[in-house]
Amino acid sequence: MINLNSIFSETSTALKKIAPFQPEIAIILGSGLGDFASSLNLKVSVATSDLPNYPTSTVAGHQGKIHFVEYAGKKIILFQGRIHFYEGYDLYQCLLPVHLCAELGCKNILLTNAAGGINRNFSPGDLMLLTSFNSLFLKKELSEVMGISNFDAKNAFLDCPSQKLNETIKQSALDEKIPLKEGSYWYSKGPSYETPVEIEMMNKFGTDAVGMSTVHEAVYAVSKGMKCAGISCITNFAAGISNQKLSHEEVTITANRVKGNFERLIKKFIEMSVV
Ligand code: HPA
Repeated sequence: MINLNSIFSETSTALKKIAPFQPEIAIILGSGLGDFASSLNLKVSVATSDLPNYPTSTVAGHQGKIHFVEYAGKKIILFQGRIHFYEGYDLYQCLLPVHLCAELGCKNILLTNAAGGINRNFSPGDLMLLTSFNSLFLKKELSEVMGISNFDAKNAFLDCPSQKLNETIKQSALDEKIPLKEGSYWYSKGPSYETPVEIEMMNKFGTDAVGMSTVHEAVYAVSKGMKCAGISCITNFAAGISNQKLSHEEVTITANRVKGNFERLIKKFIEMSVV
């Protein structure tokens, strides 16, 4: 069993010293979506490199900052940048942001990410609300962190994504007149993008989008008693859906193109959230 409480006790002590409040909503910003932070009045910010034992974010577009923000009367913790398994970290290290939110007593978390579109009705630039996800290939690693005999953790998947948060996100999109797709997300370990035949397999299994994050964070968050939701920015057609070559550059360019809608959706979600 891997005990995050003891491994990251110094990290959480350091963050608790800086935190100006107990956050009510946590948001993890995915690839290319980090600019959202600059649209808000930041109360307190810390570089993750200044926190003991915090893994370094190596991916372009992931700044490695944690911000405390007040918006629409809500207390928010914002992670600008996340830790990916494909960067060479162990899965438990990738759970640190969520672990810190739980340590600070945060009860709601919104996970955002960039993803490849598999559903042929999706185009780059679409926003997709996660209605389900595939965690089949993470169960062993997650049980090492959550405890194999932890019954609540075994069922952590059941109300995830949270119906309540998803309803709020859907209503926010309607109010803001932002088209919002819905679908299921497949976790791919990376670091390489998928092959066309892998994407075709995921498609046959009812998958709408694929990415390299989020699922383990979601399961861990729910096992810690948080309500969790996820939004994907479809940044590219998944491999083989179009003839185009995939690149991280395309991911960040598309995310940048839709950042206006993304920001409005998240802000409305914060406004409408009952915490
Ligand atoms: N595959 C996996 N991860 C991704 C993709 C993709 O096509 N696009 C953005 N993240």
